[in-house]
Amino acid sequence: MSGHDDGEPGDTEHDETDGAARLAPGEAPQRPLTLAIDIGGTGLKASVLDASGAMVADRVRVATTYPLPPDGEKGMVATLARLVGPLPSADRVSAGFPGMVRKGHVLSAPHFITESGPGSKIDESLERAWHDFDLAGALAAALGKPTRVANDADVQGAAVVAGHGLELVITLGTGFGTAAFLDGQLLPHLEIAHQPFRKGETYNDQLGEATRKSVGDERWNRRVRKAIDTLDALFFFDHLFIGGGNARRVTRDELGAVLDKTTVVDNSAGILGGIKLWQGEHLGV
Ligand code: BGC
Repeated sequence: MSGHDDGEPGDTEHDETDGAARLAPGEAPQRPLTLAIDIGGTGLKASVLDASGAMVADRVRVATTYPLPPDGEKGMVATLARLVGPLPSADRVSAGFPGMVRKGHVLSAPHFITESGPGSKIDESLERAWHDFDLAGALAAALGKPTRVANDADVQGAAVVAGHGLELVITLGTGFGTAAFLDGQLLPHLEIAHQPFRKGETYNDQLGEATRKSVGDERWNRRVRKAIDTLDALFFFDHLFIGGGNARRVTRDELGAVLDKTTVVDNSAGILGGIKLWQGEHLGV
């Protein structure tokens, strides 16, 4: 248990590092060490992984505060630098970001352009500040290590897919994340979160944490099932992985035929995927 209760999906009743491997006491970490950062709309988290993917330090976390520009003392880069200060030194850095990222630059930051968090008013100066922000470059400069940044669902997906056929990963947390892989190869990221889903609202609007809290788990689950059916008709996936802090709230026995090809994965994948960003060039970073 992580000892806080701030409403973060997945953090209140369940330690999301449960599924992460640890080094045995006295066991030496294998280099290179990767500082893996999971940037979320509710929490900013980080840990250091060794080459085998084992966590060499306890995960650190702070609540995401708003407004959150990229720069400045209270901005994301400085906040992350303070967060990771107590962690052991690493050779390289990976970060998963909840928006569209291309070659380390932020093309969209749906949570961080809002005045006071997801669902609140969009602030034009934050929009300008985040537009095309070179997050990989800024983190590399602040942390003094080579840094790669990619979409958070893509990073999380890379940690869990088996490498066979069309695998779709959805993440249920503050927002709705998706990633698709063909034979283990990440396909171009699509911001399905912001596409129309039902009743004039997007997947993000209908499936995000704010909505789950207001409509309750039962109605939210009906929407999750409809989203899965819609995405199956779009992707014809061979396997579906459901991750994110709210994955454990999905009523699996009501998933119907899709249940046979569905796996619910541990939220620790958000951090464990960090190592994949440095394995091969295929993540488009
Ligand atoms: C963003 C996605 C992200 C997802 C999960 C959505 O709001 O648009 O890029 O993957 O949240 O964090």
